[in-house]
Amino acid sequence: MKITVIGSGYVGLVTGTCLAEVGNHVCCLDVDPAKIAMLQAGGIPIYEPGLDEMVRRNVAAGRLTFTTDVAESVAFGEIQFIAVGTPPDEDGSADLQYVLAAARNIARHMDGYKVVVDKSTVPVGTGDKVRAAIAETLAERGVELPFAVVSNPEFLKEGAAIEDFMKPDRIVVGADDARAIELMRRLYAPFQRNHERILCMDVRSAELTKYAANAMLATRISFMNELANLAETLGADIELVRQGIGADPRIGYHFLYPGVGYGGSCFPKDVKALVASGHEHGHELKVLSAVEAANDAQKLRLVDKVVREFGADLSGRRFALWGLAFKPNTDDMREAPSRVIVRELTRRGAEVVAFDPVAAHEARRVMGDNPRLTFADDMMSPLEGADALLIVTEWKAFRSPDFDAVRAALKQPLIFDGRNMYDPAWLRGIGFTYHAIGR
Ligand SMILES: NC(=O)c1ccc[n+]([C@@H]2O[C@H](COP(=O)([O-])OP(=O)(O)OC[C@H]3O[C@@H](n4cnc5c(N)ncnc54)[C@H](O)[C@@H]3O)[C@@H](O)[C@H]2O)c1
Repeated sequence: MKITVIGSGYVGLVTGTCLAEVGNHVCCLDVDPAKIAMLQAGGIPIYEPGLDEMVRRNVAAGRLTFTTDVAESVAFGEIQFIAVGTPPDEDGSADLQYVLAAARNIARHMDGYKVVVDKSTVPVGTGDKVRAAIAETLAERGVELPFAVVSNPEFLKEGAAIEDFMKPDRIVVGADDARAIELMRRLYAPFQRNHERILCMDVRSAELTKYAANAMLATRISFMNELANLAETLGADIELVRQGIGADPRIGYHFLYPGVGYGGSCFPKDVKALVASGHEHGHELKVLSAVEAANDAQKLRLVDKVVREFGADLSGRRFALWGLAFKPNTDDMREAPSRVIVRELTRRGAEVVAFDPVAAHEARRVMGDNPRLTFADDMMSPLEGADALLIVTEWKAFRSPDFDAVRAALKQPLIFDGRNMYDPAWLRGIGFTYHAIGR
């Protein structure tokens, strides 16, 4: 099949590449000429395990191309995926300008049947707006052409995006057009050879499913963060509690890890957008408003602990910080808790020397203007003479460091662990003062 993907970011690039991997011909469009130039030159603008190799393979096989030329991209595919950003507007609602611009571009250049598939995360009702934008633009051109609008939300996780796309738990297809549904079934057949994974539904339900999934996961995290804070006060260990409840199959172990709050490009903005959407339609989503407030507070939790130890004025202090990305295996710094932590520590006068295995270049882009923040190329050098070590992202490389070397390098053996990486009793046994979350 011939497919166009509009927007070559985390979702668009992974979608386009995985669709090419199973034999389709895919044209990826982006408005960012630097991104497309980089892709055309064999570079990859994001860090995603396994992606560079897969892109290279499919480019070499002639199945994957990149362009900034809208007319060319519209002409290319019968299926047109929209995978552009939907950032929060000022009131928290999803900003649909990029989605609607993409839809109008399709209508401006199409000359036959197109299935317009919305893969971006969009509020309920966007399918109707996309349909109206296309119809309007076609009317302006004075032409009548057939098209269908499909909602196909994406559930991939950054850091495991290829695996998630190639072996999806489910493929949600919201559509009411039989021809479009048939095309989507053919398109996704290679990804569900083992058993049927397509959940076919109406467009609105598909749109809401995506928000419901992310809101549920965010809720679990905020729930555990609040319980962790309570456990600290009560003298309980949240790690044991986590295992105690996770063993219940009705609850399960996923997304029960307390920490420094959720971040990333999805949970914060999707929770906000769903709350805003409820508001717009006269429903106050009380649980989700609390989820968001609890998360904002949690991002300050590690700094509060530092302040309790050193006082509110941190001038003259220097801290080593391990982990900048909002989670391991990605370089995505959007809404990363590290940004709040660095901002708050340096605002109080501290210096921060940070290390992240892959996100330093992105962190430099978003926080590089902070004169009290510097970046190290290895995990041990920030520790030299530092007042304490703060752990913010649970990269594998931090799981079992050389604790003797850590102790020798630090001014004092003091760790603030925002990800509960270590066994508190053991660490205290070898002489560390160890502050974790909820333990
Ligand atoms: N990142 C994730 O893990 C993830 C997971 C599931 C769903 N989503 C959703 O997918 C959508 C895209 O997210 P992302 O993380 O890939 O964003 P991104 O910012 O990485 O990529 C979006 C790309 O779209 C391009 N773009 C904007 N307008 C365009 C236009 N008119 N024509 C062509 N290109 C255009 C931008 O230049 C950018 O490269 C969002 O709605 C997001 O909520 C993201």
